[in-house]
Amino acid sequence: MSERVLVTAALPYANGSIHLGHLVEYCQADMYVRALNRLGTPALYLCADDAHGTPIEVNARKQGVTPEALVDRFHAEHARDFARYDVAFSNFGLTHSPDNRAIVEAVYQTLRTKGMAVDREIDGNFCEHDQRFLPDRFIKGICPKCSTPDQYGDVCESCGATYAPTDLKEPRCTLCGNTPIIKKSTHVFFTLSAKENAEFLRAWIDSGALQPDIANYVRTWIEGGLRDWCISRDGPYFGFAIPDRPGKFFYVWLDAPFGYIASSAEWARAHNVSLDSLWRSPGTRIEHIIGKDIVYFHTLFWPAVLNAVGYNLPTKVHVHGMLTVNGEKMSKTRGTFVNAATFAEHVEPQALRYYYASKYGAESGDLDLSFEDLIYKVNGELVNKHANLFSRVSQFLSQKLENRLGDLPFPAVSAQQASTGDNSMLDQARRVVESCRRMQQLYRAREFSQVVRELGVVADIGNEFMQNAKPWDQLKSDPEAARLTCTFVINVCHALAMYLWPIIPRFAEAGARGLGCSIERMDASLLFAERNRPLGVFERMFDRIDKKATDAIIEASKQSLAPQKPVTAPVQAAKAAAAVAKPAEPPTKAEAPTPTGPKEPITMEQFQTVDLRVGLVRRAEPVAKSKKLMRLEIDLGEPELRQVVAGIAHVYRPEQLVDTRVVVVANLKPATLMGVESRGMVLAANDGQALTLVRPEAALPPGSQVR
Ligand code: MSP
Ligand code: ZN
Repeated sequence: MSERVLVTAALPYANGSIHLGHLVEYCQADMYVRALNRLGTPALYLCADDAHGTPIEVNARKQGVTPEALVDRFHAEHARDFARYDVAFSNFGLTHSPDNRAIVEAVYQTLRTKGMAVDREIDGNFCEHDQRFLPDRFIKGICPKCSTPDQYGDVCESCGATYAPTDLKEPRCTLCGNTPIIKKSTHVFFTLSAKENAEFLRAWIDSGALQPDIANYVRTWIEGGLRDWCISRDGPYFGFAIPDRPGKFFYVWLDAPFGYIASSAEWARAHNVSLDSLWRSPGTRIEHIIGKDIVYFHTLFWPAVLNAVGYNLPTKVHVHGMLTVNGEKMSKTRGTFVNAATFAEHVEPQALRYYYASKYGAESGDLDLSFEDLIYKVNGELVNKHANLFSRVSQFLSQKLENRLGDLPFPAVSAQQASTGDNSMLDQARRVVESCRRMQQLYRAREFSQVVRELGVVADIGNEFMQNAKPWDQLKSDPEAARLTCTFVINVCHALAMYLWPIIPRFAEAGARGLGCSIERMDASLLFAERNRPLGVFERMFDRIDKKATDAIIEASKQSLAPQKPVTAPVQAAKAAAAVAKPAEPPTKAEAPTPTGPKEPITMEQFQTVDLRVGLVRRAEPVAKSKKLMRLEIDLGEPELRQVVAGIAHVYRPEQLVDTRVVVVANLKPATLMGVESRGMVLAANDGQALTLVRPEAALPPGSQVR
């Protein structure tokens, strides 16, 4: 069997929504894996959600849920977002898993046995009020260098100075505002400073694992002297407890990268192969795709620990740059901090994939998304050049020539020879094949922007051929000549579908179905063989993007994110939120958070006048012209579905509601909201910031009583 490639993308934190910056990475890795597989190199795409660390523990606490529940929620949301963007992981795990725990514990034991994990007492910043040690990001104060207030404990965002939290003037705990004290604690260190590690890392870098610019600065870190790496944290912490050190947890950056291996283990089990055949085997190449911001973790500790415990080393760590939008850092106030889901509500996600592909290279430079350029490229290239070619030639064949391909005046193998430049039909076929062969190399080198350029070259050959041959004129005197022209162009379309697939798979598959061609392999030697058969049924392939749609993305991103401080997407989404619309009140009033103070006592009898039922949402759609109202049709176990209007459209999308269970006040008097009758009310909890539906924990039948 040929060598297998394991491709990983960095694990997103299960603490916020996937945004367009993340997608730079996940789409890129997805295209690479799709291309490798279609080029005949078996490749897996492994990822997981990164579940651990202080921010997740703190956020869960703030939201009054367990960290497990918080990360599960984001895990489900991430899986849904990735599916929308055709990001097709072979396995998408979660680092808080039994496999990962077992792997990390075993790694720890090995490090202990080898004397590479040692205990050391160090000073930490401790908040006596919150009774916890504070990570650098949980301390803020005045920058010791430029005196800008409100700076984090590790780096000043104003002057760029880096320092220890203890250097800050007037340091404060970001949770409670008190001044932290210095307290001693014993921690576990990985002995990265040992001489063998530096030697090992130098050799690993020399093996060509890194892009040249990245290799250079990692070398400067090594030559600057490696320090031992603290791999434990004090509780409270969400992570794996260290077995022989009560109260201590493994640091998230130790168990997160092992999530790559744990995710592989899940895949291996499902496919009946051993984990060792993937991670302790000369037959696998490990390729990590990561952003610039996490190079440190992937190029020093990670290979050194892998080396220490005898797993395969990364063959490549591909580093990409950061996303800017319209030339600037993503900004919540400008509406350019765009969540994947928000974009997908207004623009077909394949447009983003195509656009990103047109910008990806093998270098680690930043990537800019300009909405104007997105419209220009997608409408000008994807729609006008590619989709149009498919549609013109297919529709011509079906309308005028019985939807049948003819023959070509050369055998398919002749198209495999070098172009002579005589501009004959055969010569143009050869140019197409040459372009496709170049694309095969470019895909392997992850030079996607050059692939997109070649795709344009191929489409131009098809479009010009059609324009010059004029099948609509040929048809009048010689229909078979017209059929020949179309047959050539259909073969060009076949090449396009085959080579567009890794970038925009659904587009390519629709195209291939229309042509009745197979694109299961990306192989230029299969081209120009489509002849003498009926064509498939043409499907509409892509719609132009309207500027209104991109404006709406920015507007929606401003609304959902503007008043926010960092993190926690569900809170962001719900921030502007209100209680569920009470049908008796006009919507404006219903938007104010419900007061939470105590209410007058009631009797059991009074409570029992409220008929609460489990409902199963069958249909959901936003109410026209309303930002918050959603019209639901709910199965309450009655003969007919109940129509209920709820003020949740700013927090939930229809597809998040359909086929899920809610709790309904079934005997509320009907009311009309923005012209729509509501016969009941859906229960939701609201703390004045976040809104969340109240849902039964088990899948009880619709109509079940709640009390
Ligand atoms: N959880 C860690 C990674 C652990 S890997 C063992 C993490 N998570 S993250 O959610 O912050 O980022 C995940 C990946 O997305 C990283 O590679 C990061 O560089 C990338 N991106 C996040 N924001 C990005 C942009 N704005 N632009 C480009 N890539 C970005 O780091
Ligand atoms: Zn505190």
